[in-house]
Amino acid sequence: MGIVERSVMADQTDTRRYLTEFDSARTGHILTDVLVIGSGVAGLRAAIEASRFGRVTLTTKRTLDESSTSLAQGGIAAVWGVGDSPDRHFQDTLRTGAGLCKPEAVRKLVDQGPARVDELIAWGMEFDHQGESIQLTTEGGHSVPRVLHAGGDSTGRALINTLSRKARSTANLRILESCFVIDLLTVEDRCVGAVTHHANYGHQIIWSNQTILAGGGCGRLFRETTNPPTATGDSLAMAYRAGALLADLEMVQFHPTTLYVAGAARTLISEAVRGEGAYLVDGDGFRFMQEAHPDAELAPRDIVSRAIRRRMTETKSNCVYLDARHFPSGQFEARFPGITELCRSFQIDPTRDLIPVRPTAHYMIGGVVTDSDAATTLKGLFCCGEAACSGLHGANRLASNSLLEGLVFGATAGETAGQRATQEDATVGPTRVRHEIPSSTRTELDLLDIANSLRSLMWRNVGIARRGDRLDETREIIEFWNHYVFDKVFSEVDGWEVQNMLTLGRLMAAAARERSFSLGVHYRVDAPEDQDPPPTPEHTAVRRADGVMVQGWLDQSLAPLRD
Ligand code: SIN
Repeated sequence: MGIVERSVMADQTDTRRYLTEFDSARTGHILTDVLVIGSGVAGLRAAIEASRFGRVTLTTKRTLDESSTSLAQGGIAAVWGVGDSPDRHFQDTLRTGAGLCKPEAVRKLVDQGPARVDELIAWGMEFDHQGESIQLTTEGGHSVPRVLHAGGDSTGRALINTLSRKARSTANLRILESCFVIDLLTVEDRCVGAVTHHANYGHQIIWSNQTILAGGGCGRLFRETTNPPTATGDSLAMAYRAGALLADLEMVQFHPTTLYVAGAARTLISEAVRGEGAYLVDGDGFRFMQEAHPDAELAPRDIVSRAIRRRMTETKSNCVYLDARHFPSGQFEARFPGITELCRSFQIDPTRDLIPVRPTAHYMIGGVVTDSDAATTLKGLFCCGEAACSGLHGANRLASNSLLEGLVFGATAGETAGQRATQEDATVGPTRVRHEIPSSTRTELDLLDIANSLRSLMWRNVGIARRGDRLDETREIIEFWNHYVFDKVFSEVDGWEVQNMLTLGRLMAAAARERSFSLGVHYRVDAPEDQDPPPTPEHTAVRRADGVMVQGWLDQSLAPLRD
């Protein structure tokens, strides 16, 4: 799939096809029918499905316990309660997505959601109950209570435990922990596996008939994020180097309420806290969301995040507060045991104290462009979960739709890749492939300093509010850093992660520059307030072709626009 080219640029990240040198004659090999990269909800669900068709190898850069999924608190949005319907869930998702959702993708999510939840229950997941019924919570943008949760506020942990248990007991499925995928391997424009680095065995080539990318998002590109240290955008950057089409990289969702205590990790304070009735107040106790939107604290996330930012500026404060002091006695602790414990570890008692919060980077809405089978534009490569851009979330993701996305589109990717692996013969088996990179004479680099500088730059210039001149400046600074960071060939994960982060930071700044008007989570302070968005919704798109970055636009269904 091509794009109509609107602009073409090049720097070091465009000329580098692989981040490492390798020679298949001197490297260990693994052969598999389907390779799954990543072990969050989407990767695990894809691997379980694909194993019905053939041998599956799942890689994860650390352990099965470490992913954005395992930190998810709120829950899984699915049509479950009396009075709800797939049409209602469809409409809520579309409305929140600010007109950019791909309706077929949304339809698939809402229709298949309940069956995917049933399956989790059959695999032993225990959702919280009220009496005989599963308890449902409301979150921003949902017109009815629809969010299922487990362990109060540890839905992600319960989900990963359930899927890991299922995966570990599945025949045909091999799990490789501490295995960092450096790059997708392509031969004649087809993905044939990946070049990996294992903590114990070093470089290996995993040859696969079909490959599924499910390596999650890139919150770690920002100084302030809810994401774990693993979220460095590796899947997106390696897909770019391999020539796959990516879209909407400017669409980063900022979660409105992350704990703000100096020195503490920016841990999520779930939207479900507002769903259960907590207020957002400023330092004077004023409930500012009532003025900002008719749904007050339960307005869509982009609106709440921007209103908080505005209030912080107006009151010259570093944060606002969640107020749950009016909850009936014992209710907060019972419903949110993890958040209660977290707050108490900083001497904050949510039943008596205000909880200081502010927005931080949370979820990458854009990603690798996929069709309804989760196939990318690169032959042999599928993508699902946060790394993918299926068009499901449009310009703003509906709360708690992401775990369901991982289940529904993970199962789709696993099924389609599994089927194709049995139908299509691998066009390339283990064969001689090698890649050399000219050696560098430059000095040692302080990788942590580069990563921290990038995070500050992205937070300042590609955060909640953006301006064209700052986005240009961001790209120029990153390109300057790229001159010497991409001159190096690293042999450790930290180095490859920083190279991935720089690759993606530049693409995100370029995409945010390209979309010169505000839409959903993408807020351009330099766009005139009364500017109308284009009459037809369009996605920004980017790919790497012939050693340059090519930018363009796709239509609402993620198909190339015609001039
Ligand atoms: C939350 O619990 O607020 C996060 C859930 C989500 O990102 O959808």
